[in-house]
Formats: sequence, C-alpha cells, structure tokens
Amino acid sequence: MEDKLKELKKRHDKILAGGGPKRIEAQHQKGKMTARERIGWLLDPGSFTEIDTFVEHRATQLGMADTEVPGEGVVAGYGTIDGRPVCLFAQDFTVIGGSLGEMHAAKICKAMDMAMKIGCPCIGINDSGGARIQEGVDALRGYGDIFYRNTLASGVIPQISIIMGPCAGGAVYSPALTDFTIMVDQSANMFITGPQVIKAVTGEDVSAESLGGAKVHSEVSGCASLMFADEAATMAGVKKLLSYLPSKYDAETPLAYSQDGVSRVCSELAAVMPDSPKKPYNVLDVIAQVFDDGDYFELQPMYAKNIITCFARLGGRPVGIVANQPYELAGVLDINSSDKASRFIRFCDAFNLPVITFTDTSGFLPGVGQEHGGIIRHGAKLLYAYSEATVPKITVILRKAYGGAYIAMCSRHLGADLVLAWPSAEIAVMGPEGAANIIFKKDIDEAKDPQAARLEKIEEYKKNFANPYMAASRGYVDDVIDPAATRSRLASALKALSGKKESQPAKKHGIMPV
Ligand code: HXC
Repeated sequence: MEDKLKELKKRHDKILAGGGPKRIEAQHQKGKMTARERIGWLLDPGSFTEIDTFVEHRATQLGMADTEVPGEGVVAGYGTIDGRPVCLFAQDFTVIGGSLGEMHAAKICKAMDMAMKIGCPCIGINDSGGARIQEGVDALRGYGDIFYRNTLASGVIPQISIIMGPCAGGAVYSPALTDFTIMVDQSANMFITGPQVIKAVTGEDVSAESLGGAKVHSEVSGCASLMFADEAATMAGVKKLLSYLPSKYDAETPLAYSQDGVSRVCSELAAVMPDSPKKPYNVLDVIAQVFDDGDYFELQPMYAKNIITCFARLGGRPVGIVANQPYELAGVLDINSSDKASRFIRFCDAFNLPVITFTDTSGFLPGVGQEHGGIIRHGAKLLYAYSEATVPKITVILRKAYGGAYIAMCSRHLGADLVLAWPSAEIAVMGPEGAANIIFKKDIDEAKDPQAARLEKIEEYKKNFANPYMAASRGYVDDVIDPAATRSRLASALKALSGKKESQPAKKHGIMPV
C-alpha cells in the first residue's frame, strides 16, 4: 500500500503543479491567480472537493499523443460559499492556455450536472484560449455540450460566469447563456473574433482591450453584469451577489439579520424630491433610505444608466428593484434600458425575488435612432417581462408616469399587486406642457395674451390631471402615501404577498419578443 500511496501522491503533485513554475510565474506577472488559487479565494477555507482530478485527454493528432495536459487544463469540483453549497470549475491558463478539449469539457459538464442534481449555483471561472485547436471537432462538441447544459439549467439554478482572462470565439456563448457575467478590469476579454481576424476581414485596427475588455462590455455592449478592479475584489463581489440568491428556483431566499426595523420612518425621503418636476435627483438616494441598512447591490451600473437594477433587502429578505434614474437622460426608457430591466425582471421572477419598481419617467425616448434600432421590439420586452412575472410586484410612483412608460413600469394593468404613489406623482398621458399645447391650442391661440393663457392652461392641467388622484380614484393606484412611510408600506405589502400564488395560462412557453 505504501508504494501505491507514493504513486498517488506523485500523480497528484504533478497535476497540482499545473503548467509548471514558469507558466505560473507568467500568470502571476499578469496580475492573475492560478485556477486553484482562485478557487481558494472564492470558497470557504477547506471546503473544496475536487472531482475528475486524473482525467486525461485522448487526442492523438497534431502532437497530442505525447502531450501531457495536467488536469486537462481545468479544475472542477464543489464546495461552499458562506456555508452554502456551490459547484464550480476554473480553467487553468497555465496548461495549454486553458484551451477546451473534449475531456476538459466533460469535466465542466460533470460539475454542471452535479449542480443541477444538488440544486445549487454553478460558477465558472473562465481563462482560456478557446477550443483546443488540436482536438478539432471534439472540442467544438465540448462547447455544444456546455451550451446545452447552460440552457437546461437556466431558471433552475443560478449560473455565474467569472471572466479572468481571454474568452474567445464561441466560448463567450457559455457566459452569455448564464445569468451573470463578471469581468476583471484589464485582464478579461470577450469577443467572438479577435483583433487579428477583424483586421483581416474588415481592416479595422483594434486592441483586445478596446474590442472586448471589461470596460467596453460594462459600458457599451451590456454583455457584462459587473466589473471589478482585480481578482480579489471580483471574488468578494461574487460572494455578495450570491448572498441575495436562493440556491435554486424553489429554494428559500437567504434571510440576513438586520437591526433596521421594518417600520422605520424615512423622514428624509421627501427632501430627495426636488420642488421643480424639471429637476433631476438620484433615485439611488431613495433606494438607500428605503432598504435595510442603506445597502443595495447594483447590476450593470455603467450600462443604460437611465434605469437602475439592483438587489437589496427589506426585513432581511432579498428583493429585486427596478427604478428609473432621473439623473441620467431624465430616466427615459430606451432600447438599452428596456433590455437591461427586462432581463433582470425575468431573473427575479425565475428565482422568486419580489420585484419593487420605482417609477419616474416621462416616457420612451423619441428619435429616429431609437425607432430604427427597434425600440418597439425592445420596449415590448419590458411589457412582457413584467406581465409574465408571477412574483410579488409592487410599484411606487415617485413622480412622472406618463403615457406608455406609466403602463410599462409595472402598472396595475401589467399585474402589479400593489401600486403606491407619492403626492408628487404625475400620472397622465403626457406632461402638462405638451398636453396643454394640444388640448387647449384653440383657447391659447385665440387669447389676448397667448403666453399667459398657455401658462394658465398648463397650471389647470397640472391641477386636474398631473397628480396621483385621478389614477387613485379609478383604483389604478391603491394609495397615495407620505414618502416617509415608503419603507413600512413596502414591508407590510411584502409580508402580505409572501404567500402569493399566481399561474399563467397552460402553454409550452411564451414567445418573448427578443
Ligand atoms: C490550443 C492554445 C490555444 C488553443 C492558446 N493555446 N490558445 N492551444 N488551442 N485555442 C496555447 C498556446 O499555444 C500556448 O502554448 C499557450 O496556450 C499560451 O498561449 P499564448 O498564445 O502563449 O498566450 P498569450 O500570448 O497570453 O495569448 C493568449 C491568447 C492566444 C490571446 C488566448 O493564445 C490566442 O489568441 N489563442 C487563440 C484564441 C482563439 O482564436 N480561440 C478561438 C478558437 S475557435 P505554449 O505551449 O506555447 O505555452 C473557438 C470556437 C469555439 O473557440 C466554437 C464554439 C461554438
């Protein structure tokens, strides 16, 4: 037995050494950890159990028959984060550039299958040169197997992709199929075709960073949910994200203890709202005052900044929040904000997180660019996502709720369970200026002093229509509340709705306007 144990240790040590000291040093020089170091940072100390340590490739072509690939270039297994189980894999760039061959993919698939059987989140740490060129179609098949599993797992368990190096070619589609893609600034890239191919095909000169770096995917493409300055901060961000999520779609959401009482009066909330409806304010100040301990966790904070999507807690229970951001483009709805919010709402609905909506928007953004870009199709996603969501849906109309945006921001008509409005709410087909110009045009034109008549008519419209009381008189708004009571009213609504059961008509699945 002693000899056998020695052999086990020898084999084990060889695999633990990955690509060897030189390649590990090169990895460290780039500010990157190795696959095993990353797992060590992410999981609770001592909780990791590796699977498939001794898996080997069986490729023979292009020199592979004599090529040793320790661990097949990926470390896979299970462990815990804050005491809760997760399955994960981490590609090892020090071993043939973390490239994905048939058996590398099989290890990833086994970890994914395990996550589905256990009912726990699956986390992938991506750092790879893509399909292992020497393995040809077997490598491609490996990606296909992963994409298929990503899709089946969608809405069953949370899936998180962490990008900590190159992620090229079709490899980017696994992250795109997962729920969250988290990138490290300066070291992570994602693109379908890299700078060299682009140069050859289109003649464009572009660096990997400006083509598919963390910043560009966080600000421009919207493909990244979050970015962090370095790997340690990324791991801390992933842990915080997981703290809001249930382990699977039908598991309890994690409860966090807070001393922040649910009936706390938000006495400074009214002061956030400017006197003039034309003045912007930061809706994050509202969110910070309403939810537990002023804490929230924003997703895609640099993309479509005119809408906020974030997680927070109320009474210790996680909720999803969608809020128009008057600070950015006056909180208008456009293609990107519709896309961002609808994806978030669908995630919350799949994982039983109540959706709380804060409305302050004058409508959908006018413009040729928006129309030609398909705002009709993208805006429809928002209507669809809110309408199909069966989780508790509570809306607070803070100020402007005009036209289509009134309907789209989780109105009663899209199935909101409770709609509250602040006294500052203006619920109407359009803003007072525009409305007065149209409906009182004749009166204004015929007046001795058209300008004075116009101002008078605007005031008349404001008084009669740009307020929450018309909607409340119809029962579209359940109550008009003092902003100071927002927290306690939301808390009591969440409590009342905690047993909500709502089902959709029988169907195979709906057709989301993608
Ligand atoms: C085999 C690969 C590899 C790959 C890298 N390596 N990518 N081996 N297949 N796809 C190997 C290198 O030969 C090298 O081996 C080691 O990994 C490190 O790579 P370097 O190039 O030295 O590192 P670096 O300079 O940091 O560049 C990293 C890189 C570059 C940007 C990722 O390697 C690269 O461009 N690779 C190809 C990326 C790509 O086009 N992939 C798409 C494949 S097609 P040695 O032995 O020298 O250390 C695809 C389609 C999937 O993925 C479709 C699914 C639907």
